[in-house]
Amino acid sequence: MKNIDSQSASEIVIFGAVGDLSRRKLLPSLYQLDNAGLLNLESRVIGVARQEMSNDEFVALVLENLNNFIDEELNQETINRFLARLVYQKLDFKVTESYSDLADTLSGGHDTRVYYFSTPPAVYGDIGKGLSSAKLITNNDRVVMEKPIGHCLESSKVINDQVACYFNEKQIYRIDHYLGKETVLNLLVLRFANSLFTNNWDRNSIDHVQITVAESVGLEGRFGFYDDAGQMRDMVQNHLLQILSLLAMEPPADLSADSVRDEKLKVIKALTPIDRFNIKEKTVRGQYVDGYLNGVAVPGYTNEEGANTQSTTETFVAIKAEIDNWRWSGVPFYLRTGKRMPAKHSEIVVHFKKQPHNLFKDSYADLPENKLTIRLQPDEGVELQMMNKIPGIASKMLIHENKLDLSFSKTYADTRVIDAYERLMLEIINGNQSLFVRRDEVEAAWTWADGIIEAWQSSNEVPKPYPAGSWGPVSSISLIARDDRQWVE
Ligand code: BG6
Repeated sequence: MKNIDSQSASEIVIFGAVGDLSRRKLLPSLYQLDNAGLLNLESRVIGVARQEMSNDEFVALVLENLNNFIDEELNQETINRFLARLVYQKLDFKVTESYSDLADTLSGGHDTRVYYFSTPPAVYGDIGKGLSSAKLITNNDRVVMEKPIGHCLESSKVINDQVACYFNEKQIYRIDHYLGKETVLNLLVLRFANSLFTNNWDRNSIDHVQITVAESVGLEGRFGFYDDAGQMRDMVQNHLLQILSLLAMEPPADLSADSVRDEKLKVIKALTPIDRFNIKEKTVRGQYVDGYLNGVAVPGYTNEEGANTQSTTETFVAIKAEIDNWRWSGVPFYLRTGKRMPAKHSEIVVHFKKQPHNLFKDSYADLPENKLTIRLQPDEGVELQMMNKIPGIASKMLIHENKLDLSFSKTYADTRVIDAYERLMLEIINGNQSLFVRRDEVEAAWTWADGIIEAWQSSNEVPKPYPAGSWGPVSSISLIARDDRQWVE
């Protein structure tokens, strides 16, 4: 168990503690850190919400959720310790005076605190104001903001400005949970710890890159929130652009937060703008209609529970993104993400250039290119497709395409798969901002995404239908086929 040190935070205050994110992810992650001996001896977790609830009721609720959302058996010793850390505080976020109650609950001396805003952004400013007026913020404290940070560039500025009134940028941790995924972090290792890739990671060696983030789930009762956002704001502006920027950035000087974020920012800023003049050629948006998933009939988007039957919100996006810089000139990055696709399946496929000449055309007419597949989830791993001779005596050299497969579940069979939130929570507690998104990154990502959204809006075209359980509208196939390429299925 850790002793308190000056860097790490020892009071974790969760606003919105009984909400979905807190129950599913934040509290289970804190339990796991405790179980791994990574929480300070004296750390406390203060759950803050609007509901009237006793401490015992809160503890019972947390226990129920740990049982629901943690797959393995809970460790009784850890459970006892973890539950003893919990404190509940009822608070009306908008009433500044009520923060004095929170002040009474928090430690008298000033341990370093994490204020986790697991609430709608609309109340971030109120919470900041309340904390500040109760003198609950010091320079060591950290604040965590969940996405969505805004609906567009302007609204993201408003939210960031509100929080900036009370916390400086070094204290702000903007979550993009994809940055906490093992396989996304592994991109850094893959690229910068393997000279094979480091030296072949540019327009000279790479033909194109495909990034697919597919989900089989639909809206799961979130229609109201999602319909206002759509797949572009919900997934592309953040998760896909973060993956893209880690894949395409220049080597940072070191792994410090700003070195990495400076390089990611340059990539986002170098994305070729997409506007009403090239929107049709570079993007496809779709919306799922009634279909079948694993043989079971599922409703279309506008037939979902609580749906607006006239909605034209996109649930699928495909984009041909281009990075206008020296390294990537002429190398398209095809992005594709959607709900109600055949499976939860996220991967990056880097297609290297073909050989200039085929020595083996007698046995293999069209030599395929090498492909590096990075399986983000599920079945995490890295796979390199390459040509190999088929052993044996034959008059001609028989060759075939085979793969080197580094499957994490086999290679690291004894290692528990860590949830992204566990890693991110630990980094917040330890005060390391590298895996969090800086304000300028958020703004650059909105600038690019807004251009696309505005172009769609001015085009008067509605999203193309695709049956639930399919890989998206047919036009997403044409998007890449126009360049004589095809999606890897
Ligand atoms: C969230 C989106 O950020 O990421 C959801 O709001 C999406 O719509 C989720 O389902 C996907 O996360 P993961 O970790 O399951 O890939």
